[in-house]
Formats: sequence, structure tokens, C-alpha cells
Amino acid sequence: MPNLISIRKKIKNFDKKIYVDGDKSLSIRWVLFSSIASGVSEARNLLMSEDVLASIDVIKKLGIKVKKKNNSFKIYGKGINGYRYKNNLTLNAKNSGTLGRLILGLIVNSSKSINLIGDKSLSKRDFKRITLPLSKFGARFKSKKKVGLPLTIKGTQNLKPINYIETKGSAQCKSSVIFAGMRTNGKTLIKAKKSRNHTELLCKYLKLPIKIKNKKKFDIIEVSKIKKIKRLNYKIPSDISSAAFFIVLTALSNKSKLTIKNVNINPSRIGVITILKKMGVNIFFKNKMIYKGEAIADIVVKSPKKINNINCPSYLNSGAIDEFLIIFLVAAKANGVSYFKDLSELNKKESPRLLWASKILKKMGVKTILTNDSIKIFGNPKLEINKKIEIKNFLKDHRIFMCCTIAALSFGGNWIIHDKDSINTSFPSFLKIISSIKK
Ligand code: S3P
Repeated sequence: MPNLISIRKKIKNFDKKIYVDGDKSLSIRWVLFSSIASGVSEARNLLMSEDVLASIDVIKKLGIKVKKKNNSFKIYGKGINGYRYKNNLTLNAKNSGTLGRLILGLIVNSSKSINLIGDKSLSKRDFKRITLPLSKFGARFKSKKKVGLPLTIKGTQNLKPINYIETKGSAQCKSSVIFAGMRTNGKTLIKAKKSRNHTELLCKYLKLPIKIKNKKKFDIIEVSKIKKIKRLNYKIPSDISSAAFFIVLTALSNKSKLTIKNVNINPSRIGVITILKKMGVNIFFKNKMIYKGEAIADIVVKSPKKINNINCPSYLNSGAIDEFLIIFLVAAKANGVSYFKDLSELNKKESPRLLWASKILKKMGVKTILTNDSIKIFGNPKLEINKKIEIKNFLKDHRIFMCCTIAALSFGGNWIIHDKDSINTSFPSFLKIISSIKK
């Protein structure tokens, strides 16, 4: 079977209830926290994607036992200092920036040299942003690359706490420094631009010594040494980043309605909903509740009669950072020109996504004006595609594949989209859910 998908028909209107896969950020964090907990932690609905499986492989290499039974995973944590460091051990983060950056924060105390490698896409990404602060703790890094992977880390038992200012709005950098801070004898102080706060919420839930002050544009986080983490049983809620593809599919279709059950609606993750609501899409939450510090709800979406253009305020960027590709599809159908700015981080993801967004929109016949960190999209409420579009060589970026699939189902045309397997990075059930909506 060729590793591509061909789509020639728009989706018909629908009224459905769906579940999407477990949250990727929470799944990876559950694996990492459980790996240094004391005792056996169990997770249900863990996301079974390559990023999460890579996280499991990494902790296994560090000597932690993992067992899978039916739908549940068990991790046999050996405590805060339970990792087994072997000289020249190689850890493979594959495609996952979250795994690659967070694990470095956890192994800053390694007594041996450990190599970190990744796939082609991850190897091009910026690791300087995390080796710089981790070096201040006392870890040493070696790499032939200017910014990317592979790299070698040699940690130390003699870690010093640091003061760190995180300016990019990167939850990966913030979380990695929190992990490293938990291993030092003093107080690590972090001033971080707003970004997803799953790590902090888990620390609070686990009653770890972390203090957080939320300011308007940034958070102040103080981390002290932890002695013990209790085991962490968790039922992973669904991923808003996966739900977002179907929210947009509904927003772009006529007279359709969709309910997406049990989704993590952490306020630091729902930028996509805020933005789409501003654009006139009818979205609301049902059955809201708090689970272990995280907000969860069913999301209900109805097709709008008209889509408004938006001048998107940049304070919404970090909460929607993984969703811009599909938000741009909604802008393509809006009544007027939409403007998205201060998005240089988007070109630092699994592929240069801002660049790719404008390439794809151009192929779709949508006019854009692109700069290094912004895009203007000239919307057309009557947009229909009638030509052949082929999408390939996009560094197997899972979100590009899924975004193009939604575009094909929404705007028509004769699409061939390569690297179908890329969905396994974050959302293995993506195509099955599309089939279930079509039925
Ligand atoms: C993530 C943080 C974000 C996001 C990524 C997952 C996380 O990256 O894009 O998909 O789980 O911490 P940055 O922290 O680099 O913005």
C-alpha cells in the first residue's frame, strides 16, 4: 500500500459524537513523572503514538520497567534517583521535541555521558534553547551541530540552582528547567512567558515543592529540591490539538454538528477555540469538570453561517501554537483579510509551518502575504478547489498531513497527500475517525 492518501470528494454534512486520542503533552509527562516516582503508576487511555512510545523506550533504556496490559500501562518507578546511567547510552527522541527537551532536564544529574538523537526533523530543531539553561545548572554538552541533534550530555551530582528567563513561550524549555530545578539543593527561579502549564499542574497535584505566581504576560515559578514523588494513576483525557482538526472540519462544512467527548480544555491550550469563536464559529463546552487539576469537557461545534476575518492578537499565540495550520484554513474561507503575527516560533516546529501554510494556501488558490513571523490571508467565502494538488516532502510533519486532509474534505479538489504514516506521531486514529464521520 502506498504511503499516501488520495481525496477527491468533499465531506457531506454530518451530526456526530466522537472521541479523539489521548493528550500528547499529558501522555509524555505521565511517562516521565512516573519514571521518577516511587512505586507503580498506572495510566489508562495513554496516547499510543510514536512520540509517546519513544518516551517509553527512553525510560526503559534508563532502567525503568514498563508493562502494558490491555488498555493500561504500568510504570515501575524507582524514585527520584532511580535511573541507571550507562556510559555512552543513546536515547532516541525520534520526532518528539517535548521528549527530547524534557528528558534532558531529568538527566542533568547523569554520572555518565548520554547521547541524545532524533529523526531528521528533530535533528534540525533548536536544542541550544535548552542546553544553555541546563549548562548553568552544571551539566556539560557536546555537539557537532550548531543548534540541533545529536548531542551528548554529561550531568553532575553537584547541580546549582539557577535564575532563568524564558522568553519564547516554550512549555518544553520551561518544563525541562523545572525538572532540572527539582534536582538541585536550592531554589530555581523561572520567569516564563505564558505557555501550556501541564507540568506545573502535575507538580501541584503531586504536592511537589513548587510555587507559582501568575502575572498577566508571564508566570514566576519557584522550584525546590524534591525528595519523593508519589505514584501517579491517570486517565488521560483527549487532546484538544487532535480535536481541533474536527472542530475546523465542522466550522468549514454546512449545517453540521459535532460533539467531541472528554477533551482537555486547560485554559493554556484553548487558543484555537477563542480564535475560532472570534471568527464566528459556534463552539461551547458541556459537562465541564476538573480532573487532577486539569479542566475537561465535551466540546460542541456547529457550522457557522458566515466566517469573520480576524486580526489575531499575539497573546493568543502560545495557547494555539500547534493549531495555526488549521486556523489558517478557516481564515481562507473568511469574509475579508485575516492577519496573524509574532509567529516566528511556528517555523521552529516539526517543519517550518508558517512557510508551509503559505505554500499550501497558494496551491489552494488563496492569496497570502508572508513574512518571517506573520501571514496575511485573503479569505474567500466561496472558495472551491477544482484542480489537482499534491503535497509532499514536508519532513513528515503530522500536522501538515492532517491539515491538508481537512482542506481536501472541506474545499474539494483532487488531492494526493504523501506520508500518511505521519499521523502515528500524534494521532493514529485520525483517518478512522474521518471514516466514522463519513458513515
Ligand atoms: C509542547 C509544547 C509546545 C508544543 C508541542 C508540545 C509540550 O512546544 O508545540 O507540540 O508538550 O510541552 P514549545 O514548548 O516548543 O512551544
